[in-house]
Amino acid sequence: EITHKVDELMSQMTLEEKIGQMCQYVAIEHIRETKKRMNGKNLIEDDQAGMYPGLSTDELKQLIRDGKIGSFLHVKDAKEANELQKLALQSRLKIPLLIGIDAIHGHALIKGSTVYPTQLGLSATWDDDLVYRVAKATAKEVRSTGMHWTFSPNVDVARDARWGRSGETFGEDPQMVSRMGVAFTKGYQGDFGKDNILACAKHFIAGSEPVNGTNAAPMDVSEHQLREIWLPPYEAQVEAGVYTFMAAHNELNGVPCHGNEWLLTDVLRNEWGFKGFVVSDWMDIERLYQTQKVAASQEEAIKMSVNAGMDMHMHGPDFLVPLAELVRKKEVPEARINEACHAILKAKFMVGLFDEPLADIERSKAILFNDEHRHLALEAARKSIILLENKNNLLPLKGVKSILVTGPNAANHRLLGDWTLPQPEENVVTPYEGINEVFNNAKVDYFDSGESLLNPVDRTAEAAQKAKAYDAVVIVVGSNSLRYENSEKTCGENIDRANINLLGTQLKLVQKVYQANPNTVVVLVNGRPLSEPWIKENIPAVLEAWEPGAMGGIALAEILAGKVNPSGKLTMTIPYSVGQITQAYNYKPMHFFHKYRDEPWQPLWEFGYGLSYTTFDYSNLLVTNKVISINEAVKLSIDVENRGNMDGDEIVQLYIRDNYSSVTRPVKELTDYKRISLKTGEKRTVEFEIPFNKLGFYNRNMKYVVEPGEFTLMVGGSSNDKGLLRETINVQN
Ligand code: IFM
Repeated sequence: EITHKVDELMSQMTLEEKIGQMCQYVAIEHIRETKKRMNGKNLIEDDQAGMYPGLSTDELKQLIRDGKIGSFLHVKDAKEANELQKLALQSRLKIPLLIGIDAIHGHALIKGSTVYPTQLGLSATWDDDLVYRVAKATAKEVRSTGMHWTFSPNVDVARDARWGRSGETFGEDPQMVSRMGVAFTKGYQGDFGKDNILACAKHFIAGSEPVNGTNAAPMDVSEHQLREIWLPPYEAQVEAGVYTFMAAHNELNGVPCHGNEWLLTDVLRNEWGFKGFVVSDWMDIERLYQTQKVAASQEEAIKMSVNAGMDMHMHGPDFLVPLAELVRKKEVPEARINEACHAILKAKFMVGLFDEPLADIERSKAILFNDEHRHLALEAARKSIILLENKNNLLPLKGVKSILVTGPNAANHRLLGDWTLPQPEENVVTPYEGINEVFNNAKVDYFDSGESLLNPVDRTAEAAQKAKAYDAVVIVVGSNSLRYENSEKTCGENIDRANINLLGTQLKLVQKVYQANPNTVVVLVNGRPLSEPWIKENIPAVLEAWEPGAMGGIALAEILAGKVNPSGKLTMTIPYSVGQITQAYNYKPMHFFHKYRDEPWQPLWEFGYGLSYTTFDYSNLLVTNKVISINEAVKLSIDVENRGNMDGDEIVQLYIRDNYSSVTRPVKELTDYKRISLKTGEKRTVEFEIPFNKLGFYNRNMKYVVEPGEFTLMVGGSSNDKGLLRETINVQN
């Protein structure tokens, strides 16, 4: 039925109107505010100030009325969404605008929304259902503000901690990234009801392991690696019905993704059967010409990209006129325009935009940051925080009468992470505020050690002096991904680093305070793995909070107090040093045949690792069918018992290794996981079933095969070899 409606609409459209649907622009208010923030000027007063040189705000509005713009991104709020939409409804065919936004971990670019932990934190919960619920709640907030599309999930596999966008990912394992991405996609899109939005799988492809760790740098990767690590999460999104894709900034083996027909058409559409549309990333079509130089002009860049399979241009005026001309000259087939326009209009019908183009602003106010969403943000934060060290059971802090809280990330909004705009003070609980609230029987003080990570003032001696007088000290260190108000970002989009240590005086602060007070807890609030071996070796208690969102301060304090038992586990290896990058847990056998001469070869903390206040005992690994015939699933079970004194959640992880194979296989690969809750003394049998095709890989002829022979199954609470129980199975011819 929708196809029919789209066909009918398209039969009335001119070529320019069809290409207009492929054009996306940045919204007016957002640009004014960004410019104001960056330049300190009050551009709000200037009605004609826009993003695009030579295009005034009035001219931009006229383009909407002329049906020459199909989509906007970064609209400020429901009010602006409605204003833009009303202009579109004045156009000849009254086609509403599709409005997209980076709602990456909540609708956080909108003031007053709910900010959840960033993706890396969400993945540390190993809780697919929770991740689904976060996406569903986010969709409801986005939709209520008159927006219909999020540029999420990011299903890049992150194995390079120098890359500033690591925190935007679900970590280093393709299987986990696939599953969590599917949970996001399904949560956002649902059945395309009134509270649903379109999802966007990005960035296609392999931009997360750039050659030097810097965003958008080239990626050179074998087809084997591509097929085994980078492509599977994207294919999983297509299977889950994701409606849009975004191309990646980088080149792949010499061919920029934005002009890569093999990627955008052969693999995505012909091989996987993708039926939605592809959007470019920010001005990347232009970059084919301006930076990557595979095209000699803007026209050539547009031709290359659209012919490769690009459907929508993000963003601006440099697209419609040249593309129409290319079609007239028959250098871009009209069929390509029809295909793109059809898919975009279909999306507009699917989300019900023609029936209800305007947002109900009052309803939106009741949905943003409502109680249900706030509780969900708290649940997510509680489950995402990882206990890395707890020597002599310093945690939980029982019976302490005084706590000093300090460190650059203790008393500000850095726990919100990237892709967040300023949120009302009352909607966010900082670590200090959380500790103050939860430890209401103790004296809790804050010492401002300085917030700058790049140009710090050295107040370490004063902090140490002060620390002596308290029963315990909590130091919150890490990075800064906030993108506003001179925030001195040290992490996030386009903020990469050559090193992965703590910047500035942070390590010195930890060392001095620890010397003064051995009851020191270090909390990391950071958007990418940071590595300080000294902290692991010396500090009794260390927590990795990632960027836990608006309720992070409460969740953290509850864990410090023992009201919540920590249960998060790492989904990205924390390397010992920058030299170990890109050592993911699923490395190949010869990787450490020779160890490093100057440093340990083991990471600081490995994938899957995380402690609890209780202990879990694994026993009785049973495989029902140790000899597997073709297409038969492997069935196994394991007993897990809570042997400690506190109820808790455990993440049971199943790894597999193909022991002898025609091409080398990783020493282990995550195959499945389950999050379970166990009361003290409770024992549970956890069952797994591995589908036959999960035992396979790409052979020397790039054919996906399951080879007969021996496999090892490993089950436990971390990828760390020592704790894993093992069984061998045999696949028969
Ligand atoms: O969605 C983002 C993308 O991840 C990076 N470049 C800009 C896009 C839109 O904001």
